Amino acid sequence: MRNLISVKNLCKEYNNEGVITKALCGVSFDIADGEFVAIMGPSGSGKSTLMQLLGFLDRPTDGKYFFQGKDTQNFSDDDLAYLRNQKIGFVFQSFNLLPRTTVFENVQLPLLYDERKESRSLIEKKVHEALRAVNLEHRINNFSNQLSGGEQQRVAIARALVNNPALILADEPTGNLDSKNGLQIMKILQNLNDSGHTIVMVTHETYTSEHAKRIIQMLDGKVENDYLVKKRRIADGEAELLK
Ligand SMILES: Nc1ncnc2c1ncn2[C@@H]1O[C@H](COP(=O)(O)OP(=O)(O)O)[C@@H](O)[C@H]1O
Ligand SMILES: [Mg+2]
Repeated sequence: MRNLISVKNLCKEYNNEGVITKALCGVSFDIADGEFVAIMGPSGSGKSTLMQLLGFLDRPTDGKYFFQGKDTQNFSDDDLAYLRNQKIGFVFQSFNLLPRTTVFENVQLPLLYDERKESRSLIEKKVHEALRAVNLEHRINNFSNQLSGGEQQRVAIARALVNNPALILADEPTGNLDSKNGLQIMKILQNLNDSGHTIVMVTHETYTSEHAKRIIQMLDGKVENDYLVKKRRIADGEAELLK
Protein backbone atom coordinates (compact mmCIF):
# COMPACT_ATOMS: atom_id res chain seq x y z
CA MET A 1 0.00 0.00 0.00
CA ARG A 2 1.02 3.59 -0.60
CA ASN A 3 2.60 5.58 2.21
CA LEU A 4 0.23 8.25 3.42
CA ILE A 5 2.82 9.58 5.86
CA SER A 6 6.57 9.32 5.89
CA VAL A 7 8.58 11.16 8.55
CA LYS A 8 12.36 11.14 8.64
CA ASN A 9 14.37 12.35 11.62
CA LEU A 10 11.59 14.67 12.70
CA CYS A 11 12.58 17.04 15.52
CA LYS A 12 10.69 19.73 17.39
CA GLU A 13 12.19 22.21 19.83
CA TYR A 14 10.05 24.76 21.62
CA ASN A 15 11.68 28.08 22.34
CA ASN A 16 9.92 30.12 25.01
CA GLU A 17 11.89 33.33 25.58
CA GLY A 18 15.18 31.50 25.22
CA VAL A 19 14.14 28.42 27.20
CA ILE A 20 14.56 25.50 24.79
CA THR A 21 12.55 22.29 25.24
CA LYS A 22 13.39 19.36 22.99
CA ALA A 23 9.98 17.72 22.58
CA LEU A 24 10.84 15.39 19.68
CA CYS A 25 14.15 14.20 18.30
CA GLY A 26 14.98 11.93 15.36
CA VAL A 27 11.52 10.44 14.86
CA SER A 28 11.17 8.29 11.72
CA PHE A 29 8.34 6.04 10.53
CA ASP A 30 5.98 5.41 7.62
CA ILE A 31 2.22 5.01 7.83
CA ALA A 32 0.40 3.43 4.89
CA ASP A 33 -3.14 4.16 3.75
CA GLY A 34 -5.59 2.08 5.77
CA GLU A 35 -3.51 1.71 8.94
CA PHE A 36 -4.82 2.22 12.48
CA VAL A 37 -1.91 3.32 14.67
CA ALA A 38 -1.95 3.96 18.41
CA ILE A 39 0.75 6.31 19.73
CA MET A 40 1.55 5.47 23.35
CA GLY A 41 4.02 6.68 25.95
CA PRO A 42 4.23 8.51 29.26
CA SER A 43 3.12 12.09 29.77
CA GLY A 44 5.65 14.50 28.26
CA SER A 45 7.08 11.94 25.82
CA GLY A 46 6.07 14.05 22.80
CA LYS A 47 2.83 12.41 21.66
CA SER A 48 0.78 15.60 21.30
CA THR A 49 3.70 17.41 19.68
CA LEU A 50 3.92 14.61 17.12
CA MET A 51 0.16 14.84 16.43
CA GLN A 52 0.43 18.60 15.92
CA LEU A 53 3.20 18.11 13.39
CA LEU A 54 1.34 15.30 11.59
CA GLY A 55 -1.78 17.52 11.46
CA PHE A 56 0.11 20.59 10.18
CA LEU A 57 -0.86 22.58 13.25
CA ASP A 58 2.85 23.25 13.76
CA ARG A 59 6.06 22.84 11.78
CA PRO A 60 9.06 20.69 12.73
CA THR A 61 12.34 22.40 13.58
CA ASP A 62 14.25 19.70 11.72
CA GLY A 63 13.62 16.58 9.63
CA LYS A 64 11.29 15.74 6.77
CA TYR A 65 7.56 15.14 6.53
CA PHE A 66 6.20 13.62 3.32
CA PHE A 67 2.39 13.58 3.07
CA GLN A 68 0.88 11.58 0.18
CA GLY A 69 4.39 11.45 -1.27
CA LYS A 70 4.96 15.21 -1.20
CA ASP A 71 7.67 16.92 0.84
CA THR A 72 5.73 19.47 2.91
CA GLN A 73 8.76 21.50 4.05
CA ASN A 74 8.28 24.36 1.63
CA PHE A 75 4.49 24.40 1.73
CA SER A 76 3.05 27.86 2.43
CA ASP A 77 0.72 28.54 5.36
CA ASP A 78 -2.17 28.53 2.85
CA ASP A 79 -1.09 25.12 1.52
CA LEU A 80 -1.03 23.77 5.08
CA ALA A 81 -4.44 25.28 5.87
CA TYR A 82 -5.79 23.53 2.78
CA LEU A 83 -4.32 20.20 3.94
CA ARG A 84 -5.76 20.66 7.44
CA ASN A 85 -9.21 21.35 6.06
CA GLN A 86 -9.36 18.85 3.20
CA LYS A 87 -7.12 15.97 4.16
CA ILE A 88 -7.26 15.72 7.94
CA GLY A 89 -9.98 15.28 10.53
CA PHE A 90 -9.13 16.12 14.15
CA VAL A 91 -10.61 14.62 17.31
CA PHE A 92 -9.47 16.00 20.67
CA GLN A 93 -9.76 14.76 24.25
CA SER A 94 -12.03 17.66 25.21
CA PHE A 95 -14.39 17.28 22.18
CA ASN A 96 -13.98 21.01 21.27
CA LEU A 97 -17.56 21.49 20.06
CA LEU A 98 -19.04 24.96 19.80
CA PRO A 99 -21.47 25.48 22.71
CA ARG A 100 -25.00 26.84 22.19
CA THR A 101 -24.78 25.48 18.67
CA THR A 102 -26.60 22.52 17.17
CA VAL A 103 -25.11 19.21 16.22
CA PHE A 104 -25.79 20.04 12.56
CA GLU A 105 -23.93 23.35 12.81
CA ASN A 106 -20.93 21.72 14.50
CA VAL A 107 -20.62 18.95 11.95
CA GLN A 108 -21.00 21.22 8.91
CA LEU A 109 -18.19 23.54 10.10
CA PRO A 110 -15.33 22.06 8.03
CA LEU A 111 -17.53 22.32 4.92
CA LEU A 112 -18.00 26.06 5.47
CA TYR A 113 -14.23 26.64 5.30
CA ASP A 114 -14.15 24.85 1.98
CA GLU A 115 -13.51 27.31 -0.84
CA ARG A 116 -15.62 25.30 -3.26
CA LYS A 117 -18.73 26.51 -1.38
CA GLU A 118 -20.84 23.45 -1.83
CA SER A 119 -24.61 23.65 -2.28
CA ARG A 120 -26.90 23.59 0.74
CA SER A 121 -28.33 20.22 -0.25
CA LEU A 122 -24.87 18.64 -0.63
CA ILE A 123 -23.81 20.01 2.77
CA GLU A 124 -26.94 18.55 4.36
CA LYS A 125 -26.33 15.20 2.69
CA LYS A 126 -22.73 15.07 3.94
CA VAL A 127 -23.70 16.05 7.51
CA HIS A 128 -26.37 13.34 7.59
CA GLU A 129 -23.92 10.73 6.28
CA ALA A 130 -21.28 11.66 8.87
CA LEU A 131 -23.83 11.53 11.70
CA ARG A 132 -25.12 8.18 10.46
CA ALA A 133 -21.56 6.78 10.73
CA VAL A 134 -21.55 7.60 14.46
CA ASN A 135 -25.19 6.65 15.03
CA LEU A 136 -26.39 10.14 15.95
CA GLU A 137 -28.57 11.23 13.06
CA HIS A 138 -31.54 11.51 15.44
CA ARG A 139 -29.69 14.21 17.46
CA ILE A 140 -29.03 16.51 14.51
CA ASN A 141 -31.09 19.42 15.86
CA ASN A 142 -30.03 19.13 19.50
CA PHE A 143 -27.68 21.67 21.02
CA SER A 144 -24.24 20.18 21.55
CA ASN A 145 -24.27 20.98 25.28
CA GLN A 146 -27.46 18.90 25.69
CA LEU A 147 -25.51 15.74 24.85
CA SER A 148 -23.58 13.36 27.07
CA GLY A 149 -19.77 13.27 26.86
CA GLY A 150 -19.80 10.13 24.73
CA GLU A 151 -22.34 11.67 22.35
CA GLN A 152 -20.32 14.89 22.13
CA GLN A 153 -17.25 12.90 21.14
CA ARG A 154 -19.31 11.11 18.48
CA VAL A 155 -20.34 14.52 17.10
CA ALA A 156 -16.66 15.49 17.07
CA ILE A 157 -15.89 12.32 15.09
CA ALA A 158 -18.68 13.15 12.62
CA ARG A 159 -17.20 16.63 12.22
CA ALA A 160 -13.77 15.05 11.60
CA LEU A 161 -15.30 12.76 8.97
CA VAL A 162 -17.49 15.18 7.07
CA ASN A 163 -14.86 16.15 4.51
CA ASN A 164 -13.94 12.51 3.94
CA PRO A 165 -10.33 13.15 5.01
CA ALA A 166 -7.34 10.97 4.10
CA LEU A 167 -6.31 10.88 7.77
CA ILE A 168 -8.09 11.03 11.12
CA LEU A 169 -5.94 12.24 14.03
CA ALA A 170 -7.31 11.64 17.52
CA ASP A 171 -5.42 12.83 20.62
CA GLU A 172 -6.65 10.83 23.64
CA PRO A 173 -10.24 10.63 22.29
CA THR A 174 -11.39 8.51 25.22
CA GLY A 175 -9.45 10.44 27.90
CA ASN A 176 -12.52 12.26 29.26
CA LEU A 177 -14.91 9.30 29.03
CA ASP A 178 -15.80 6.37 31.26
CA SER A 179 -14.86 2.92 30.00
CA LYS A 180 -18.28 2.15 28.51
CA ASN A 181 -18.38 5.36 26.45
CA GLY A 182 -14.68 5.01 25.67
CA LEU A 183 -15.29 1.57 24.29
CA GLN A 184 -18.12 2.86 22.09
CA ILE A 185 -15.75 5.45 20.64
CA MET A 186 -13.16 2.74 19.98
CA LYS A 187 -15.76 0.61 18.20
CA ILE A 188 -16.65 3.56 15.98
CA LEU A 189 -12.98 4.22 15.17
CA GLN A 190 -12.51 0.53 14.43
CA ASN A 191 -15.51 0.52 12.08
CA LEU A 192 -14.18 3.61 10.30
CA ASN A 193 -10.82 1.90 9.90
CA ASP A 194 -12.54 -1.26 8.59
CA SER A 195 -14.21 0.89 5.94
CA GLY A 196 -10.84 2.26 4.82
CA HIS A 197 -10.09 5.33 6.96
CA THR A 198 -6.51 5.79 8.14
CA ILE A 199 -6.39 6.60 11.85
CA VAL A 200 -3.59 7.77 14.14
CA MET A 201 -4.66 7.94 17.78
CA VAL A 202 -2.84 8.89 20.98
CA THR A 203 -3.83 6.93 24.04
CA HIS A 204 -2.30 5.86 27.30
CA GLU A 205 -4.83 3.16 28.01
CA THR A 206 -3.87 -0.35 26.97
CA TYR A 207 -7.48 -1.38 26.38
CA THR A 208 -7.89 1.30 23.71
CA SER A 209 -4.46 0.82 22.10
CA GLU A 210 -5.30 -2.80 21.43
CA HIS A 211 -8.11 -1.79 19.09
CA ALA A 212 -5.42 -0.41 16.77
CA LYS A 213 -3.41 -2.58 14.38
CA ARG A 214 -0.04 -1.09 15.26
CA ILE A 215 1.49 0.60 18.30
CA ILE A 216 4.22 3.24 18.24
CA GLN A 217 5.66 3.69 21.72
CA MET A 218 7.28 7.04 22.49
CA LEU A 219 9.80 7.81 25.22
CA ASP A 220 11.64 11.12 25.79
CA GLY A 221 10.76 12.44 22.32
CA LYS A 222 11.94 9.32 20.49
CA VAL A 223 10.30 6.20 19.09
CA GLU A 224 11.03 3.54 21.68
CA ASN A 225 9.15 0.69 19.99
CA ASP A 226 7.01 0.17 16.89
CA TYR A 227 5.11 -3.10 16.53
CA LEU A 228 1.98 -4.72 15.13
CA VAL A 229 -0.92 -5.78 17.37
CA LYS A 230 -1.15 -9.48 16.54
CA LYS A 231 -4.74 -10.05 17.47
CA ARG A 232 -7.17 -7.28 18.25
CA ARG A 233 -8.29 -8.07 21.72
CA ILE A 234 -11.85 -8.23 22.87
CA ALA A 235 -11.27 -8.04 26.57
CA ASP A 236 -13.30 -9.96 29.11
CA GLY A 237 -16.43 -8.03 29.86
CA GLU A 238 -16.18 -5.72 26.81
CA ALA A 239 -19.11 -7.31 25.04
CA GLU A 240 -21.04 -6.99 28.27
CA LEU A 241 -20.17 -3.28 28.57
CA LEU A 242 -21.44 -2.56 25.05
CA LYS A 243 -24.89 -3.99 25.68
N1 LIG B 1 4.10 24.94 23.52
C1 LIG B 1 5.08 24.40 24.23
N2 LIG B 1 6.09 25.16 24.70
C2 LIG B 1 7.09 24.61 25.41
N3 LIG B 1 7.19 23.30 25.72
C3 LIG B 1 6.21 22.49 25.28
C4 LIG B 1 5.09 22.99 24.53
N4 LIG B 1 4.27 21.94 24.24
C5 LIG B 1 4.85 20.85 24.79
N5 LIG B 1 6.01 21.17 25.40
C6 LIG B 1 6.95 20.25 26.09
O1 LIG B 1 7.33 19.27 25.16
C7 LIG B 1 7.40 17.98 25.77
C8 LIG B 1 6.45 17.03 25.06
O2 LIG B 1 5.10 17.46 25.33
P1 LIG B 1 3.82 16.78 24.67
O3 LIG B 1 4.07 16.62 23.22
O4 LIG B 1 2.65 17.57 25.08
O5 LIG B 1 3.85 15.34 25.38
P2 LIG B 1 2.67 14.29 25.62
O6 LIG B 1 1.51 14.61 24.73
O7 LIG B 1 3.32 12.96 25.33
O8 LIG B 1 2.31 14.38 27.08
C9 LIG B 1 7.09 18.21 27.24
O9 LIG B 1 8.30 18.37 27.93
C10 LIG B 1 6.29 19.50 27.23
O10 LIG B 1 6.44 20.18 28.44
MG1 LIG C 1 -0.54 14.97 25.15
